[in-house]
Amino acid sequence: MNCSADVATQELTEADAANRLMRLAREIARHNKLYHDGDAPEISDAEFDALVRENAELEAQYPHLIRPDSPSRQVGAAPSSALAKVAHARPMLSLENGFSEEEVREFLRRVRRFLSLPEDEPVTLTAEPKIDGLSCSLRYESGRLVLAATRGDGAVGEDVTPNARTIEDIPQELTGAPELLEVRGEVYMSKQDFAALNARQAEAASKVFANPRNAAAGSLRQKDPSITAARPLRFLMHGWGELSEPLAATQADAVERLRGLGFPVSELFRRCETIEDALAHYQAIEHSRAELPFDIDGVVYKVDRLDWQERLGSVGRAPRWALAHKFPAEKAETTLERIEVQVGRTGKLTPVGRLTPVGVGGVMVANVTLHNRDEIARLGLRQGDRVRIQRAGDVIPQVVENLSPDERRPAFAFPERCPQCGSEAVAEEGEVDVRCTGGLICPAQRIERLKHFVSRGAMDIEGLGEKTIEEFAALGWLHGPADIFRLREHRAELLGREGWKEKSVDNLLAAIDAKQGFDPARLLFGLGIRHIGIVTARDLLKAFGTIEALAEAAAGEDGIAELSRVEGVGPVVAEALHDFFHEPHNREQLAALLALARPAAFVNQARETEWTGKTIVFTGSLQTMSRDEAKAQAERLGARAAGSVSAKTDLVVAGPGAGSKLKKAEELGVRVVGEEEWARIVAAA
Ligand code: IVH
Repeated sequence: MNCSADVATQELTEADAANRLMRLAREIARHNKLYHDGDAPEISDAEFDALVRENAELEAQYPHLIRPDSPSRQVGAAPSSALAKVAHARPMLSLENGFSEEEVREFLRRVRRFLSLPEDEPVTLTAEPKIDGLSCSLRYESGRLVLAATRGDGAVGEDVTPNARTIEDIPQELTGAPELLEVRGEVYMSKQDFAALNARQAEAASKVFANPRNAAAGSLRQKDPSITAARPLRFLMHGWGELSEPLAATQADAVERLRGLGFPVSELFRRCETIEDALAHYQAIEHSRAELPFDIDGVVYKVDRLDWQERLGSVGRAPRWALAHKFPAEKAETTLERIEVQVGRTGKLTPVGRLTPVGVGGVMVANVTLHNRDEIARLGLRQGDRVRIQRAGDVIPQVVENLSPDERRPAFAFPERCPQCGSEAVAEEGEVDVRCTGGLICPAQRIERLKHFVSRGAMDIEGLGEKTIEEFAALGWLHGPADIFRLREHRAELLGREGWKEKSVDNLLAAIDAKQGFDPARLLFGLGIRHIGIVTARDLLKAFGTIEALAEAAAGEDGIAELSRVEGVGPVVAEALHDFFHEPHNREQLAALLALARPAAFVNQARETEWTGKTIVFTGSLQTMSRDEAKAQAERLGARAAGSVSAKTDLVVAGPGAGSKLKKAEELGVRVVGEEEWARIVAAA
């Protein structure tokens, strides 16, 4: 893989892509958690952005590989346990990022296409700074502030009402407001206040914050509101959630109305008639960035017309009607002190660079990913080299240039043996990744697999994090996943260990017990078999019913052929399954695990509605919406939009000019409706 995500995604095989998406999901989740929970990020926002972007690009290329735990389906981190949780009446969305003018133009083209707008129809946008704080939703009932909540994971946030009441910018009471009004915006700390706060903290030998954003988050998310009150927090409004009545017909008018009710709005908020105006405003904001009293990391554009916003809706976690135009990556120079090679769950050897820590765009960076053997060779990297690194958006830092290349000296020698178990490390034909061939005898692979097994997308065992897995594995308690269900045998010993109290031990054991009778698809996914994501795990269970039946079929002589007949399973996946289940050690582990975990019977989890699983074909020219919008509507109803009519088609939506498909539908006796009737179906479902 390369430093540019575009190059990287193009070069991947499908199997690599699945693997990469899995790693991205984990990596992004981990950084999200660090960012939101610990207020102590390891990577810069730009680096984080690059990861999210790589994920989005891969998903665009391989939509069938989108994972249920994909970061594109989640927003931020799940709320931490210290504060009470509150479900948002309307989800708090995130934003899609763009990094160039071209991407902004593409955003507008997408909007036009989706709404099926003629070329000459103007699309007014709003443009405003993207404030680097944390978003907060303020709920007013009968003009009184009743609830303030952080974003959390977008669906559930944390109740910070008493804390928000201490923020001067946030009105406590409103006059002339709708009966029910949720105002959303950014809680932030000014650069000046941040510096003063940190000076005070340092003097008092208290925690010093990495940047204003972390200081704002740490100050708002306090159990004790008197601490929040002592912190100089500010608020800028940028949107709304649930409403009892519409605020206006456009974003700009709604913002004006909210400003009139007393909510602070950025002075740099503008209504832009054309994309050129919007881009010019971006330039202006970028120029004034250093002088602004608070940190910003880009400009947010929104489609001004609210009826269009409504139609555009959202995809994954982000609205189709908004775009964050991020400022370019920040770069810095430092020394690459060491190159270490880590071993992942599937045995992949990943080189990691340890740097002399250096500040890049407000965050100290000490580690960079070096991706793989080829990347080290491409940059000719050696330990001790001076390097230029970059952090773009919220992405993991990368080396973009070797500043002390020396062709006479060889680049870092990539290990030919696994640094953890000494087994041979090889690259499969045509693959850039080098893998340890040690399988389960490799302790690193074993531990990484266990971490994967308990992770959020798999068994999701609360209290059994990566550190705990490492601790238990070092004690010799965990060899395979079955041992997790035997941890109770070590209760007495665990109670004697530092950091473990009766309550935490019993909570952990209860969390494990609670996973008996769990979803077999997530258990299968949790086994960490190469190329088996949750979607494939579900497909396999749909075909075989139980993990036992799958294991038996896969291990058999004709395993590969039999597996290849399953929808969604290709030869690479079939071979990976065969290899895994053919291995006696894996079968023994699995038998022990199934005996202890006793997974539930598999149920297909799709939500049942009248249209679930139905097939709909759109034909002819649609007048009020684009094909994409029509398709999105069908998908929202749980139906599938197909390209051709067959006996399996349940409904044909025909617009003017419909030809052979309409004829075929009539011949087959398939129900045919017009666009108006379709709109009624959508409204009724
Ligand atoms: S609009 C429906 N406008 O950026 C989209 N968000 O990366 C909701 N943010 O969660 C967000 N400044 O916390 C919007 N002017 C602005 C913003 C802004 C900062 C934050 C917000 C959001 C995050 C997405």
